[in-house]
Amino acid sequence: MNGTHLVTKVNSIIEKYNGSQERLIQILLDLQKESGQNYLSEDCIKEVSRILDMPISKVFEVATFYSMFNREPKGKYIIEVCKSAPCHVTGSKNVSKMFEEALNIKMGETTSDNIFTLQYSSCFGGCDVSPAVKINEKIYGNLTMEKINEIIDMYRRK
Ligand code: FES
Repeated sequence: MNGTHLVTKVNSIIEKYNGSQERLIQILLDLQKESGQNYLSEDCIKEVSRILDMPISKVFEVATFYSMFNREPKGKYIIEVCKSAPCHVTGSKNVSKMFEEALNIKMGETTSDNIFTLQYSSCFGGCDVSPAVKINEKIYGNLTMEKINEIIDMYRRK
């Protein structure tokens, strides 16, 4: 987002929540979603602080405290491979390898078309289908290479 576009965007989202400081988390979530790169830039955080009339340190604190906020550009879809013990035991390492192969990137990287970021996560409650992955808010399990390719194709078509 460039300067003017950023100010307009921040203004319109804050307006949607009636300029309420209590809605800061929702405001930041919306801004992250609309950033095009799934993250909150420093400029964006500064703008939120200015328009909401809140100390910049407070907005930064919220943007860094919650794991759903990204401070670096990411893909549109974040594929999180659970590496907590139950998923580790059932083969999360193998799942990471399959995703790395299917997307042709390594864990921690983003595809060159900025559609997918591949990263590790701790348990997100998908243990019953472990090894589990979470793509944005949706959980997938019992994965095979074939299923992974289908999932990737489905997200690419979205
Ligand atoms: S241990 Fe992997 S989702 Fe819970």
